[in-house]
Amino acid sequence: MDRAETATVVVDYSLTTTTTGGEDDPTVLDVQGAIIPGSVFGKYRVLRSLADGGMGMVFLGEDLTLGRMVALKFLHQRLLGDTSAVPRFFAEAVAAARVSHPGVVSVFDCGSVEGGAYLVMEYLTGESLSSRIKRSGRLPIARVLDLGTQLALTLAATHEAGVIHRDLKPGNIHLVPDPAGSDHEFVKVLDFGVAKLLTSSGPPLTQRGDLLGTPYYMAPEQSFDPSTVDHRCDIYSLGCLLYQLVTGTVPFRGSILEILIGHKRVQAASTRSFDPAIPPALDELILRMMAKSPDERPASMVDVVNILASIQVQEPARPPAPLTIGEGMTVVGILVGLGLLLVGIRYLAGLL
Ligand SMILES: Nc1ncnc2c1ncn2[C@@H]1O[C@H](COP(=O)(O)OP(=O)(O)O)[C@@H](O)[C@H]1O
Ligand SMILES: [Mg+2]
Repeated sequence: MDRAETATVVVDYSLTTTTTGGEDDPTVLDVQGAIIPGSVFGKYRVLRSLADGGMGMVFLGEDLTLGRMVALKFLHQRLLGDTSAVPRFFAEAVAAARVSHPGVVSVFDCGSVEGGAYLVMEYLTGESLSSRIKRSGRLPIARVLDLGTQLALTLAATHEAGVIHRDLKPGNIHLVPDPAGSDHEFVKVLDFGVAKLLTSSGPPLTQRGDLLGTPYYMAPEQSFDPSTVDHRCDIYSLGCLLYQLVTGTVPFRGSILEILIGHKRVQAASTRSFDPAIPPALDELILRMMAKSPDERPASMVDVVNILASIQVQEPARPPAPLTIGEGMTVVGILVGLGLLLVGIRYLAGLL
């Protein structure tokens, strides 16, 4: 596949308009344009709000025909007037649907209702990686290696399908608990709203999309040279994300400009300066993924997977069981006691 070119994907959502069943049907939007929980449109019932993202509001919903829970994402009302927002919203569905992989959220349907646009996705239990980071801060190295490997495998499949995500960040990654109840969690990549589709010909999917994304994780070429962006911008973003997972902080902070200049010019501090227990090979990989020049990064997500697989987690060496003060006191106490006993016996023997 020639990845130098991109293609426009336009979904004519007027063809997929869902109408409410009859005049008595509750409307989905109230007068302020907010989604009304409990309302029904087409075969979906809106249940309750799950999250409010930059582009959409996500609700728990019910597919009344199939009798299953779904996630319903509605494009923000304030974006409806933005001519590029609606095609980009539907392009998200197309991009996600292009990749069939357990690590990518499944999109079942998309359409419009009352002038608004919606996507229907599989409903994910668990929590977003951003809420996990807020709750737990840094994650243990073994967990980072596992999540990193799952993400790199998922993105390898995404790239193979000709889709570059371009907005990898904790809010766009979901951690789903193992239904079997183990400690293991499954990664799901969400939000292909800024994704770029690669095909053999055609103009860019969206001009504005090149400027979108989140500065904390954004590859330098995404902000300074967007026409050159390829799959290696996702490698950079994943590097920034792994950096945050092992250190507890993003590599560059400050104003948006300072962050963008940091990505472009500043060498991030070694992760081992935060914690010397981070394996040198993991530190080296993360910094290499964050190389300023895409040519100096691992060439593909498959390479990232292979390097992650070779990194050994050093279980903290079990130190010799320390003699605790309590135990020490006990040992000393017994010796002193025995000594006193001997002295006592000799004293008594002397008396007799
Ligand atoms: N399929 C889903 N199941 C459960 N929660 C979801 C689902 N999709 C999104 N969310 C929640 O909604 C948040 C915002 O979703 P996202 O697709 O990133 O919206 P935006 O494009 O507005 O950033 C996510 O961080 C996640 O917490
Ligand atoms: Mg998002």
